[in-house]
Order: sequence, then structure tokens, then C-alpha cells
Amino acid sequence: MTERAMVTIKVRVLTEQGRVEWRSYQIPLDGEMSVLNALEYVHEKLDPLVYFTSSCRRGVCGACVMRINGRKRLACQVRLEEGLEIDPLGGEDDN
Ligand code: FES
Repeated sequence: MTERAMVTIKVRVLTEQGRVEWRSYQIPLDGEMSVLNALEYVHEKLDPLVYFTSSCRRGVCGACVMRINGRKRLACQVRLEEGLEIDPLGGEDDN
């Protein structure tokens, strides 16, 4: 049995106490994964507090826009990589 490579990401979450904090998660790589795939994995398997929106999964609707390494990107169009910082909550400076 082969072990899958793991990727660590940091995600900004809103806690049950209403605080915003960064949390780290390890994701098992499953072929070509998008940031959206990774967030779905985290939400379903690791931490239901990781919350985000999505719809088309094809880069059309814009529902999955979020800050990834400080830049506004579509999570369904960004390939999952080691060390990404993902902010589904948006930032203070929405330029
Ligand atoms: S889910 Fe529609 S653009 Fe990403």
C-alpha cells in the first residue's frame, strides 16, 4: 500500500466564539486538486468550521472567490500546493 503525499495549508476560520483565527490542516493529495477540493475535504473530514461558498466549479460563477496567498482568486481554479494561506472570509482590504 502506498502512502499519499500530504500538503499543509493554513485557513482563516471564524470560531464558535466569534473569533477569527488561522488554523493549519494536512490534506492527502488525490491527483490534481484545487483549493476548493481541499477546503471541501477539510470541511467534511477535519473541521466543519471551515466554511466557504461555491457553485459551478468551473471558474464561471465567481462564488468561490477568496484570498489565496493574499490575492483574490477563484478557489476552484487554483491548484493545491504546499503552504498556501487561504482566507475564505475575505480580508479587510477588499481591493
Ligand atoms: S465555483 Fe464558480 S467560479 Fe469557482
